[in-house]
Amino acid sequence: MSPPPEKPVRVEPRAEPPADVIAPTPRIDQWMDAYVSGLPIGGGLIAAVRYALLGPGKRMRPLLAWHCCAAAGADPEASLPAATAVEMVHAFSLVHDDLPAMDDDDLRRGRPTLHVHAGEAMAILAGDALLGLAFQVIAERSRSAALATDLTRELARANNAMIAGQVFDTLGSPDLRPLSDLERLELIHRHKTGALIRAACRMGVMAALDLNPGARWDALDQLTEYAEAVGLMFQVVDDILDVTQSEERIGKRANKDAAAGKLTYPTVVGLDRSRSLVEHLRERGMAALASLGPAAEPLRRLCSYLAVRDH
Ligand code: IPE
Ligand code: IPE
Ligand code: MG
Ligand code: MG
Ligand code: MG
Repeated sequence: MSPPPEKPVRVEPRAEPPADVIAPTPRIDQWMDAYVSGLPIGGGLIAAVRYALLGPGKRMRPLLAWHCCAAAGADPEASLPAATAVEMVHAFSLVHDDLPAMDDDDLRRGRPTLHVHAGEAMAILAGDALLGLAFQVIAERSRSAALATDLTRELARANNAMIAGQVFDTLGSPDLRPLSDLERLELIHRHKTGALIRAACRMGVMAALDLNPGARWDALDQLTEYAEAVGLMFQVVDDILDVTQSEERIGKRANKDAAAGKLTYPTVVGLDRSRSLVEHLRERGMAALASLGPAAEPLRRLCSYLAVRDH
């Protein structure tokens, strides 16, 4: 892609998520909690899975699935199995991302990381379990076999892309060698973070189309475009927050990326151009929603919020 625009854009401090955007969070948490509570998996493992899945995260991926399902024209309750599955893969990715062999972090969501809380072996195993559970919930709770197949394919591909992104980010790859730093960054971010956000949005639309034959088929393309802009934006903002916010605010260690030698937008293009890129991606996300009308209003507010979030 072309380098981010030069014009600095001011990012407003201290934004709270809009109330209508986060209104479904208690319902999402209740559904995930009920599903996990009914699982016949023993003792310490279930506690570790609950710690990782139900801790105080933002639930952005399930919220995206929910609001994309609604924007496509169906009751967003239909998105709950898909929303849970994506959040399970996300929770697994965070637990493993924090491990000593990866980013070696001890703070996540304002609490000790799972390997600090429950030991490294349990953190590895709970991550493994969450990945399996993501596909179990799709198989057990999807409304139709056709939907289960579509969701499985979508999430498996996104999971593999996320893991490839973690390999690029953590170990590097010969694939990155011919690329400029900016091209490498975009490839890493689109994989490690963008892929799951894209899947969250698309799976929400798939649930809508399965439930309601009158739902908007064109929403799949439009919300994929939205998700690609928002997914890259999400990680650019994460990189910015690492260097601009306190640990108390973000609930995880700050100033870790440069110390760990990570390639990030602030290190490659500086803060002002990183913020300009966020604004450019926000505009792209909003433009993708143009034809979706009032049903996409929460997605518009979510996009604007994600551009200025401070945690
Ligand atoms: C953190 O994701 C990891 C990234 C992909 C940037 P979130 O910022 O969504 O983390 P939680 O779920 O709110 O804790
Ligand atoms: C995380 O990227 C991406 C995944 C977990 C897949 P980061 O390593 O930047 O996320 P944080 O900053 O630890 O949340
Ligand atoms: Mg990482
Ligand atoms: Mg990390
Ligand atoms: Mg980060």
